[in-house]
Amino acid sequence: MSKQEIVYLNGNYSPKHKTTLSILDRGFLFGDGVYELIPIYNKKIFYIDAHLERLKSSLQQINITPSLLEDLDIIEIINRLIDQNNYDDYFIYIHISRGVDQKRNHIYSEDYEPTILIMGENYIPFNRDVIINGKKAILEDDYRWLKSNIKSTSLLANVLIKNKANDNGAYEALLLRDGFLTEGSASNVFMVKDGIIKTPRLSNKLLPGITRKFLVDLISLHHLEYSECDISKHELLDADEIFCSSSTNPVVPITQVNDKVICESAGSISLDLYEHAQHYIKNSYK
Ligand code: PDD
Repeated sequence: MSKQEIVYLNGNYSPKHKTTLSILDRGFLFGDGVYELIPIYNKKIFYIDAHLERLKSSLQQINITPSLLEDLDIIEIINRLIDQNNYDDYFIYIHISRGVDQKRNHIYSEDYEPTILIMGENYIPFNRDVIINGKKAILEDDYRWLKSNIKSTSLLANVLIKNKANDNGAYEALLLRDGFLTEGSASNVFMVKDGIIKTPRLSNKLLPGITRKFLVDLISLHHLEYSECDISKHELLDADEIFCSSSTNPVVPITQVNDKVICESAGSISLDLYEHAQHYIKNSYK
């Protein structure tokens, strides 16, 4: 990778550590924006149509006109960043805020020029040994807002919850709203019981994860048993296997939740799905 990592901001390309934003940007002042995190495998963009579709939906839901995506060739910008920065396996972060204000004001006007930032981020996925060992999780009340289907940059609750998990030596916090599983602080959650893979159905209470969609595609491809349903705290703790999914790590087996050991190491269905995901990525993004 070149020494000076180049990023895209509002039509310009510039070095990452020299690129700055106005203090009056509503993304900074209010977290008034949305984002995407997209894996790059072997210089190729993963599930790009699904990511752009979700970005469009997030923009629509916060009243930023998604037509701005039509004037902007995001795929071309990402490919230029991949080329210029020589990214092989990497992540692209897209951040669109409502734009820069004249002064700090909760009320926004319709005519802001959205701020568009697109840059690379380097997250190192867990290696196979870590996946086989599995990770610990904690349970937490889902005290976030009821629009968790928007991929909003207002992530304070997620940040606090993820840090609580981290302080407790856990990878993730599994969130319960009214006693039922929603998702993780930065991932979707699946469980396995009697050979059936289960995950909460999509709603305003969880993010429609692109990795979740990818895994559902793999589940269907491999004819595995699958159900989208309510999952109570009791059912979750009684699971044979649990795993989390996100762009940074498609399948992370959870072997312990609080003090409850779910399994000694990653369960066979979780591991199979992990292998299927690796195999798909290797073969489809050659
Ligand atoms: N977060 N749910 C939440 C709350 C998330 O933050 C994420 C991912 C997911 C999984 O979505 P996807 O499969 O599209 O990555 C579910 C990313 C990794 C982040 O915020 O960096």
